[in-house]
Amino acid sequence: MTAPAPAPDPAPGPVPGYAFDNDSVHAAEQHGCLAAAYDPATTARLERTGVGPGWRCLEVGAGQGSVAAWLARRVAPSGRVVATDIKPGRIPAVPGLVVLRHDIVRDPVPEGAYDLVHARLVLSHLPERRAVLARLLRSLRPGGWLQVDEFDAAHHAALLPADPAARDLYTRFQRAKADVLRAAGGDPEWGRHAAADMCDAGFTEVDPLPRVELWDAGSAGARLQAHHTRHLRDRLVAVGMTDEELARVRLLLADPAFRASSCVFYTVQGRRPAA
Ligand SMILES: C[S@@+](CC[C@H](N)C(=O)[O-])C[C@H]1O[C@@H](n2cnc3c(N)ncnc32)[C@H](O)[C@@H]1O
Repeated sequence: MTAPAPAPDPAPGPVPGYAFDNDSVHAAEQHGCLAAAYDPATTARLERTGVGPGWRCLEVGAGQGSVAAWLARRVAPSGRVVATDIKPGRIPAVPGLVVLRHDIVRDPVPEGAYDLVHARLVLSHLPERRAVLARLLRSLRPGGWLQVDEFDAAHHAALLPADPAARDLYTRFQRAKADVLRAAGGDPEWGRHAAADMCDAGFTEVDPLPRVELWDAGSAGARLQAHHTRHLRDRLVAVGMTDEELARVRLLLADPAFRASSCVFYTVQGRRPAA
């Protein structure tokens, strides 16, 4: 089986260009919320490619590896899944899964090696995302599939409670978070541009699917937002939020009266041209 060459050295501390950190005490909560909120939508769309026994797959920026483990079960017994991350320590050892420390921007990627490549909430963090799309295209066999799953965080709406101050606080928090992600080189709205960028990179049959859900107290989406107040605390304070405001955001997200429309979650599929 072909796998990307691993990066030579472990990367200690926060990685420039990525606002979160898999070594943070908050990473388990982050990845747990992402899996609870988005694995069903991600895997439902991956199924549509026909991924099954014998397929060779690459999961880029696998996080805690829940999608990579799902893929490994799908392609068993003869297929293989390579799960990569700049900090791969949270990816479990699963039969059929090869785990690599690998930077998708800088480390070598084998050409024509995969039937399916998947990356969720990775490329939006990378200023080099368009170059990465070109690398991922080349990594696929002719006719192979890419699926990227990304947010458009421009769409966020607190609906309840009716108190304007509470809804204004929520809006300011979401704007501050977008500022934090942009300052780190990310594009929190990239979900809406992913399909066009995939067309420009040379993918065919590009098929974007947007999805919006209700976030209320206790939902995985609301828990993910509360987690952001902790994981990104220093960066949020640096762009003007106070600890007192962040504490009020957490109270709001836990309020049984709270309801918000989520940001838009796009799953975008495309294929390497067959010829
Ligand atoms: C927001 S998390 C998403 C994790 C997982 N894909 C999910 O959706 O549950 C982004 C992941 O991408 C990884 N990452 C960031 N920059 C990367 C890079 N240049 N190459 C590979 N992985 C990267 C991070 O370490 C992190 O695990």
